[in-house]
Order: sequence, then C-alpha cells, then structure tokens
Amino acid sequence: MKIKENISLKPYNTFGIDVLAKHFVSVSNLDELKNILLLKGYPDKLILGGGSNMLLTKNQEALVIHVNLKGIFIISEDENSVIVKANAGENWHEFVLWCLNHDFGGIENLSLIPGNVGTAPIQNIGAYGVELKDTFIACEGLSLESNTIKSFSRADCNFGYRNSIFKQHEKGKYIITNVTFKLSKETHKLNINYGSITSQLELMQITSPTIQEVSKAVIAIRESKLPNPKEIGNSGSFFKNPIVSKAHYNTLVQNFKDIPNYTISEDEIKIPAGWLIEKAGFKGKRFGDYGVHKNQALVLVNYGNAKGSDILNLSKLIQKTIKRLFGISIEAEVNIL
Ligand code: EPU
Repeated sequence: MKIKENISLKPYNTFGIDVLAKHFVSVSNLDELKNILLLKGYPDKLILGGGSNMLLTKNQEALVIHVNLKGIFIISEDENSVIVKANAGENWHEFVLWCLNHDFGGIENLSLIPGNVGTAPIQNIGAYGVELKDTFIACEGLSLESNTIKSFSRADCNFGYRNSIFKQHEKGKYIITNVTFKLSKETHKLNINYGSITSQLELMQITSPTIQEVSKAVIAIRESKLPNPKEIGNSGSFFKNPIVSKAHYNTLVQNFKDIPNYTISEDEIKIPAGWLIEKAGFKGKRFGDYGVHKNQALVLVNYGNAKGSDILNLSKLIQKTIKRLFGISIEAEVNIL
C-alpha cells in the first residue's frame, strides 16, 4: 500500500480527462482499505471505482482511493437460484460474463455497462427494462466515519431510477466493498420486451433466446449506439431522463407530435432526454475535442484532449436550451468533480 503523489487520473476515468490526483492509492484488500482510513492528514477522500460515472473538471486535492477489491463467490444455491457475491473492484461486464458462463440469469440485459460492481448500486444501473435492484440482495459498505462494515438490504438502499441512498443521505459516507445478487438457474425469466431487444433478436433470427443470446443482442445494440470509452471518452448517459407532469406533457405534445413518452404514474410521464437534445439540434455536434455523440444524444464525448470544464460548459448550454425550448430541466446523471 503506497500513497503516490501527482498521479494522472486519465486512465482511471472513462471520459479520459487528464487531471492530477495530489494523493492516490489503489487498494486490493479490506484490511488495507481500513488502514488507509486510519491515516492522518487526508481529511478529504474521493472513492474511485471504474470511473465511468464522473466528469473530472479539476485537479483533485482529496486522497483518491482506487477500490480494487477482486473476487466472485458462490454463497449458496438450490435447484432454481444461486446467491453470488462479487467484490467491489470487479469490472461489471466481466462479472456479467462470469454469470453467463455459469448460466446464471438476471443481469444479461445489463451487459456492457461500463464501471465496477461496487459502484453499480449507487445509481442502480439499468438498461433495456432491467435494473440492478431486480437481482440485488445486499451490499456491504465500509463507513468512512467509523471504519466498520455495515450491511445494506435492498429495502435499506431505497432504490429508484438511477438513484439510491448512496446518492441521497448516505452520499460519500460509505465505500461499497461487495454486492450480493440472487440469480436464476436453468429456468430463466427473460426480459425481452424492450423494443430494440425484440427487433435485434429478430435480426439475429433467434426466436427462443437463451440468456447468452439476450446478452449478445444487448451488446449489439449498445455497440451500435454507444461509443466504446476505450475509443472515444464518455460516461454513458450524461443526463437522466426527465419526468414531467401530465399537464406539461399535454402542452408539449401539441407542438411536438412525435415526442416519445413513458407513463410512470397517473400524473407523471418520462421523456427521453436524448430525444429533447436531438430536437434541440445538438446531436452529433462537435466543438473541437468534445461534443455530443452522433448516435445517442444523451452521451457527451471527449474526442481526445477535452477539458472537463469544456464538457461541463457544453452540458450547461444543453440544459439551458432544453429549458428554453421545452420548459424542462434535465439533470446530470454523472458526478461532476
Ligand atoms: N432518442 C432520440 N435521440 C437520441 C437518443 C434517443 O430520439 O439521440 C429516443 C429514441 O428514439 C427512443 C428514446 O429516445 O424513442 C429512448 O432511447 P433509448 O432506448 O436509446 O434509451 P434512452 O432513454 O436514451 C436509457 C438509459 C441508457 C440505457 C437505455 C436502454 C438513461 C439516462 N439512459 O437511455 O443508460 O442504456 O435507456 O435501456 O436512463 C446510461 O445510463 O449510461 C445508459 C446508457
């Protein structure tokens, strides 16, 4: 365990933003992590997982703790299901592939989501009709305050759309160290009703898909729409999809007949931010080394050496324009640091 000085964070964030960490440490076991928290002289800490949901806008003064705890364990199983625990530093997609290799079902729709297992519960990652919370049993977190482990059940986490207690009142208070899932065995319940999955499976001429084939379909859709962070820096969806009142939606639909919409409750409609951004003319716009992705307007990209502040300013311009055109406030999904 060695604290390094002035380390570039470029390899540690999927946006590929080059800022420095004044102090940086990568931690591969729990005892090390506990010892780090005991060190004096580092009052502020920044917890880094896969770096896939952050926009770094400046050099970081805090001690950056890279959580690199590895390991996947089968805790118990019966005929129909299996309980699997994965440590926080496991790459999310590698974990999905491990489950698929063991024919464990439930997270195949979440294939290819960037990031690590430990950060997945924070924003309740979701895609193609499935969210992390659907298979989540519990997670453990190391309290930054007491340096002890606390267990969180699904109910404790208060999961919502791209939301959990770790983004609310427990924000910044715990380092998630592992996550436990309940997955299916043999008889899998597939979620293939999401429009683009159905058409992708048809395209692949698959009529009764396996979980492995659903994963392949998801991967094909994601690869066609979302830029690979290894090639073009990005953080997935930069914004959350906004939820508006039915009354607001009714006025919008008079001017924009084709507005896509998903009913959330009697009075709430979710509108894809990607559609709003496209309609506002930003899709595919490039400003030097940064811009809005050409296939998915929700994704802001770094083509090379963009500064975090450039991307932040673009996001603010997009927010202002959407507010002016549609009267809707769209919120960033990524953490701005
Ligand atoms: N749309 C546009 N233009 C665009 C993008 C989307 O008009 O540039 C329209 C589409 O035509 C479609 C609707 O918006 O009618 C929804 O598009 P899509 O299915 O691509 O999903 P999304 O709402 O844009 C959300 C998640 C993604 C997730 C997909 C699939 C959020 C913020 N984003 O995007 O998550 O992969 O659904 O489930 O909820 C992420 O969080 O990083 C992420 C990529």
